[in-house]
Formats: sequence, structure tokens, C-alpha cells
Amino acid sequence: MTIHAKEEILAHFDDDVHGSVFLPQPLPKYRFPRKETSSDSAYQLVHDELLLDGNSRQNLATFCQTWTEPEIERLMAECMGKNLVDRDEYPQTSELESRCVHMLGDLWNAPREERPLGCSTTGSSEAAMLGALAMKTRWRRSRERKGKPATKPNLICGLVHSCWPMFARFFDVELRRIPCEGRRLHMSPEEVIKRCDENTIGVVTTLGATYTLKYEPVNDVAEALDDLEEEHGLNIPIHVDAASGGFVAPFLDPSLSWDFCIPRVRSINASGHKFGLAPLGCGWIVWRNAEDLPEELIFEVKYLGSSMRHFALNFSRPAGQVVAQYYNFVRLGRDGYTRIAKGCAEVAAWLADELKKLDIFELIHDGRGGIPGCVWTLKRGQDAAFSAYDLSNQLRLKGWQVPAYPLAPNRSDLVVLRAVTRLGVSRDLAGLLLDDIRRAVRQLEKNPTQKSLTRASAGGFNHS
Ligand SMILES: Cc1ncc(COP(=O)(O)O)c(C=O)c1O
Repeated sequence: MTIHAKEEILAHFDDDVHGSVFLPQPLPKYRFPRKETSSDSAYQLVHDELLLDGNSRQNLATFCQTWTEPEIERLMAECMGKNLVDRDEYPQTSELESRCVHMLGDLWNAPREERPLGCSTTGSSEAAMLGALAMKTRWRRSRERKGKPATKPNLICGLVHSCWPMFARFFDVELRRIPCEGRRLHMSPEEVIKRCDENTIGVVTTLGATYTLKYEPVNDVAEALDDLEEEHGLNIPIHVDAASGGFVAPFLDPSLSWDFCIPRVRSINASGHKFGLAPLGCGWIVWRNAEDLPEELIFEVKYLGSSMRHFALNFSRPAGQVVAQYYNFVRLGRDGYTRIAKGCAEVAAWLADELKKLDIFELIHDGRGGIPGCVWTLKRGQDAAFSAYDLSNQLRLKGWQVPAYPLAPNRSDLVVLRAVTRLGVSRDLAGLLLDDIRRAVRQLEKNPTQKSLTRASAGGFNHS
């Protein structure tokens, strides 16, 4: 072996381990790199950098899936090269998406004779925007038919997820938000009716509010809108933002009236990647019937082969999430989803009861009759030594992400903490969290610091 060949071989050895020639060099950061890096070194360095991220399993702020079966990982890898939008090239994937829409129509009690329709999206935010765009277009059409101006649309909602104000700003719609008032933390039928007029494109009710995990009273709001129509002729549709509740209520509260069993509910969105148990990047929207999705919003795309109908905010999208969603539906069925949702709710109820026993917290949501999880605040007087933000920050030291946030705008005095007990947050993990909450409280009571009035991390907590 020549010396030259020996060096070449050694360099290869070095490449395989942390002693690689690349290691002493920092990764390129803000300028497009000129030189190559070997694939294994680049992988190792990027992988190592990600060690600084939080641990997703301890992130109790998120509603999104952080645990998957290995079969889902296999399907995701098999679909890596598939573009969902290319229906001509991947007709079977398209077929699976269509089956999921039918199954969701069935799960959400859409009358078959009304021929519900829908599609997958990247998440509930996109799905909410599609639903709201359909309501806006339908309202505009109706105004034009009556020869009336259609320049000042408004949308009524409670304490909604930020995707709704985003829709309102992007698409020029006035958002009439119903603020919390005293002990009322959600919309009430009376508050909805007060805000309705001929320019109202719809009412958004949330099944599983992001801030409180509770269900808004869809049926009561629908009845109030029925009365309004009878008295004043205003026919205002309801869109249900069931981002989390769409995959919880049918299994935990099957007798709850919130879905297409209410004729006024014209569209529903849900996140497949939350309690739908699909990997991140999967949402759904279903309309009650074709009239609810104006034809003018659907684009005919011809250049991928055959003619394809398309309604989405994005064009190309990974197919794996939809395939994984179909896998979940087939794998779990109603029985499996019910078993999992019940398990998550039991963990939430247990955690809530334990938090109550500490006698320093007031429970806003105790995991019963809403999304599995707990929302709580410090009892009045208890917040003398430390704030909810302090507790949240203290838990962060042990890797837990338990967000603290105010119920703005009217109840910004009420700062709550929230832990979502999704699949993977076992009773055991919840017990470890509880131990750390007890320890953190003792620590904060012993060493009262200057109270934090805001959260500590600049990036903020993830509310999705
Ligand atoms: C009620 C509600 N709507 C919409 C969203 C946005 O969902 P996604 O993150 O799937 O876009 C969330 C996220 O938490 C939510 O809780």
C-alpha cells in the first residue's frame, strides 16, 4: 500500500466518526456554502445541532402527534417521493384521500343524500381558511343576486385559534370576536346574535378551544341562529373548527350534537395530525354538500395529465400523511380511536384530580367533557409568591413545556397553564410531570423571586 493510498483510507475512517476532518470546522450558517461536506459528517453535525431543541414528547403545549407506530414510519418512508397533488401519477393515493373524506363525512354524521365533499390540507389552519373562503364567496354571491353591496363581510367567533384572525386579515374580513366576560370564557348564543347582521358570512364555533380545551355550544348557537332566521330572514351558516374535537367528540361524547346532524353546520375542519393521530402535516375539511363549496373556487388543472379539480392554498404536498391517516382509520376504527381517546381523557382526569389536591390551583378544565388535558390557574392569593409564568419557566428547566398564557382580551388577568394529554402522555409520564410540579412549587415558595409577568422564552410557546 502506498503512503498516498493509506492517507486516503484514513480520511475515510475519519469520516465515519466524530474525529472527521470536518469536525473542527463550524457549519456554514448564513452564507450559501461554497464547498461540499461529506453526507455523514453533514448529517452528524445537523443531527447534533438539533439536540438543542426541546424534547417533543415532553411538549405538553402541543395538540399534535409526537408518537407514531413503526408501521406509519414505514409508510411515510415509502411515500417520500410522492406528491399528493399529482393525482394522475398517484391515483391510488388520491383514492385513499377520497376514502378518508367519505369516512370523515360518515364519522361527522353528514347526510349521505346531501353528497358531502372535502379534501385534505396541511393542517387545520389551511382547512379553516378554505372553509371561511367558501363562506365568504357564498355570501358575496347571495348579496350580488339581491343587488346589494358585498364590501363589508364579517365573521363571528369566540376565543379562536390565531388562524382565524389570520384569515380575517389576509382576506379582508372583519372578525367580530366575542370576548370572555367574568366566568363566561366562551361564546354564548346571545353574544353571537348581538353581532349578526346582513354582512355576516358565518359563525365559527370551536369544538375544543385552544385556550381552554372546552367545547363551544354548537347546538345552542345553531338554535339561536334558527330563531334569528325565522324572525329576520338572515340565514347564517356555521363552520365548526373541530381541530382537536373532530377526533375526540365522536369517540368520547357520541351523543353530543355538534356536527352535520345540525342542518346549519355547513362545514367542519379537523387536524389529522392532532387527535386524528396522523404525522404532522395533515388536516381535513368537509362541506355538507356541493352548494356549500362554490364552483368558482375550484381550479381545473390540466398540465399534469388528465383534468384535475383543485382547491387548496398550496399546490405540491407530501402524500405520506394522508396515506398514514388512512392507515390509522383502517387500523383503529371507531373502537381503537375510542380506546385511545378514553385513555388520554383518563390521564387528564387523574392529573386534574392530583392538581386539585395540591390546594393551590383552580381547575378551568379538568379533562372531562372536552379535549383530554388540563387547564388551570393559581388560586386567588396563591399568586403572591409566584406567577403561573414562574411555574411554567421552572418546569422548563426539567424539559417540560407547559405554557402559561392570559385569556385575552377581557380576562387577561386570568393567566392559565395548559397540559394536553395526547397519545403518548401516559399516566406514568403525567406522574413524573406532577412530581416536577410539586418540586417546582416547593422551590418557588421557598425562594420567591421577583414574579415574572410574562413568559421567559423569546420564541414563545407553541399553541398548535
Ligand atoms: C381550535 C384550533 N383551530 C385551529 C388550529 C390550527 O391547527 P393546525 O396547527 O393544524 O394548523 C388549532 C391548533 O391548535 C386549534 O387548536
